[in-house]
Formats: sequence, structure tokens, C-alpha cells
Amino acid sequence: MSTRTPLTALQVMQDAPVIPVIVLNDVAHAVPMARALLAGGIRMLEVTLRTPQALACIEAIAKDVPEAMVGAGTVRTQADAQAAAMAGARFAVSPGYTFAVGQACRDAGMPLLPGVATGSEIMMALEDGFTELKFFPAMQAGGPAMLKAWSGPFFDVKFCPTGGVTLSNAPEFLALPNVVCVGGSWLVPGDALVLGDWARVTQLARDTQMLKK
Ligand code: 3PG
Repeated sequence: MSTRTPLTALQVMQDAPVIPVIVLNDVAHAVPMARALLAGGIRMLEVTLRTPQALACIEAIAKDVPEAMVGAGTVRTQADAQAAAMAGARFAVSPGYTFAVGQACRDAGMPLLPGVATGSEIMMALEDGFTELKFFPAMQAGGPAMLKAWSGPFFDVKFCPTGGVTLSNAPEFLALPNVVCVGGSWLVPGDALVLGDWARVTQLARDTQMLKK
């Protein structure tokens, strides 16, 4: 896969068993953090739009670490989607779903993993053509049992469960046929960022190689 070709949602999910969910408070952390994850074998990176620095971090990674594929998480509005695309995000992840967010991502040529937690939300996303979805918050909203229940009526939908997923419970999710990958914040701990402990981030990324899809 070229680092320039537009991605599909399925490619975003299939690149590695885990998509790291990243919260950055300092632009100076963005590039070394991205390089640390790359060194551990993870290149699909979700930088959440939860801090004032998030867009600048996405921009820095897109410019200085082109081998990484940086995306934006916590995309909640049309404006978020547009700003993320302008900053260089290659994909978007949202904690819920609205038609406006879906349309803004389409217009920007950015694949979106819309967040869902109920059957009705899945049906709304499906109506708008989205078949690869984030199950959020996965543990709190029913965990692997919920995904098993959905595999009947929503046999054609693929999920990335996120929220409460850890290295230890990830295998239970990844064993399910309707799960392509999981998402989680454990790969980039806040204290490792503050300490500049990039070796720890690389090791946490490497540890996910034991996970199989
Ligand atoms: C989030 O959006 O906060 C993610 O779901 C991360 O959840 P986690 O911190 O439980 O991995």
C-alpha cells in the first residue's frame, strides 16, 4: 500500500490488530511518538481531537513521518472532519454517528469508522453506506457478547471494538469473525509521553504482535 493512495476503511482496520488511540498535549511529542510506534510495527495512528494541540500534532506527523498513516479520532462534527482532513489526516474515527459527519468525511475523501453502540445506530450507519464500524465503548456496552449477538442480524458488518480493550482482553475480541481489529489507548500512556520514554511506547507496540487476527 502506498503511503499516498487514499485508504479504505477496511485497509485502516486490516493494517494491524490494534489501532492506538492517542491523546497528545504537546506538539513536540507527536513525531517521536509516531516514530516509536512505527519502530514497534504500528503505522495506523489515531490522534484524538481532544486537545487544542491535536490538529498541529496530526499535521506534524503527516509531514515528518510519511510512513505512518495518521488519522483523527474523536471527530464529532463536520468542522472536525474538515479540519482533520486539512491537517493531513488519512482517516477519521468518531465516537458516534451523524449523517453530517459521514458526509463531511466523504466530501474530504477520508474513510470514516463511525462509532456505534446500538442496533439502531448500526442501521443508520448502514443506510449511509458505512459497513466498517467502531464499537464504542466496547466493554461498557456489552463486550464480546454484544458482537456475537450482532453477528446474526448484522452479518455483513465489520467492527473495531474500542473502549476498555487491553492487551489481555483483545484476543477474545479478535477471535470473533466480525472483528477486524481493536482500538485502545494503552499503547501510548500519558506518563511515557511526558517522560519521553519512546522505548516503552515501542515495546508496547511490539507486544501487540502476539495478537493474531
Ligand atoms: C477512547 O476513545 O477513549 C477510546 O475508546 C480509548 O478507550 P481506552 O482508553 O479504554 O482504550
